[in-house]
Amino acid sequence: MGVPLMDLSGQWRPLHARIQAAVAEVIESGVFILGPNVRALEEETAADLGVAHAVGVANGTDALILALRVHGVGAGDEVICPAYTFYATPESIAAVGATPVFADIDPATYQLDPDAVAACVTPRTRAIMAVHLFGHPAPMAALRVIADAHGLLLIEDAAQAYGASLDGVRCGAIGDIATFSFFPTKNLGGFGDGGLVTTPDGDVAERIRELRFHGSKDKRTFTQVGMNSRLDELQAAILRVLLPELPGWNEARRAVAARYLELGIDRFVEPPATAPGAEPIYHLYMARCRDRDAVQAALKAAEVGAVVYYDTPHHLQPVFADLGYAPGSLPETERAARECIALPMYPTLAADQQAAVVGALEASLAPIA
Ligand SMILES: Cc1ncc(COP(=O)(O)O)c(C=O)c1O
Repeated sequence: MGVPLMDLSGQWRPLHARIQAAVAEVIESGVFILGPNVRALEEETAADLGVAHAVGVANGTDALILALRVHGVGAGDEVICPAYTFYATPESIAAVGATPVFADIDPATYQLDPDAVAACVTPRTRAIMAVHLFGHPAPMAALRVIADAHGLLLIEDAAQAYGASLDGVRCGAIGDIATFSFFPTKNLGGFGDGGLVTTPDGDVAERIRELRFHGSKDKRTFTQVGMNSRLDELQAAILRVLLPELPGWNEARRAVAARYLELGIDRFVEPPATAPGAEPIYHLYMARCRDRDAVQAALKAAEVGAVVYYDTPHHLQPVFADLGYAPGSLPETERAARECIALPMYPTLAADQQAAVVGALEASLAPIA
């Protein structure tokens, strides 16, 4: 492969000795579940994000399910979310027995379109689940206005956005409750599954701690049906080594995005836009193409990694067929699903590799502007 889509080995390499020491310490301690590293990671992430409470859980999907369950969202409720996102977003809504209601997106940022969200509100709507997709913040101020006007819960799915901020406030500290994934490819990814729920409310945090442990406070008395969704000590210990490095990695990703522009990538594809007040972290570098097949062919010929994500948006997935969405019902979602492709993006992507990406486009495609 000339240029891989993603290669995080370079960011981890300088940390190998520290990671191995952290792992060895956990093995020595003999404490593997919900021990001092999980507690410390919860405190460190809460302080880092500027939110009162963080609760470590098994993965980002469980984090969403727990966020819904702790607020009593369930059967008969509707939750508004995008259809252009990873499947876990609407899956979590269906998993608690509620109904996902899909709103269209803004064509420039690929985030929820607040006007489309407002049009989806019904008497059964309980929550808005905003996704900070690709590491770019969703339009939280406009969504907050809608949520407050209708008494709705505002949930942030920040799985792809650890470190992003909007108007100086970090994603994960804006809504009523937020969730993260530590899946290995995320900007803050562990070496296995992991997740986090953040909330400003101490009572909510306590109830999530119970729910993640079979719905019990004391491991003996069981008052509700909970889950087994714990973050393990090995992941927490590794994530504690990685967390202080993340600002540098996210800054490097921003520099990569800026360099693509300097190299004139916008002559061949539409680069990702940044909304006013948004500080994205480029979890993925999504480019919109006039002819995606031609872009894909050009990159493949030059051995440049490029991947199409979410090409069948969720309102058209078989699992949600009963909801009755027809093709064409979410035009901007469907256009993004047809036209966008992720190009190489990771902190250690070198200038000559980026030049090779743009060179591959230049060699085969006519300029779009
Ligand atoms: C937007 C979004 N939500 C939720 C998830 C679920 O996270 P996990 O894979 O840790 O369950 C992911 C991760 O892949 C994601 O990208």
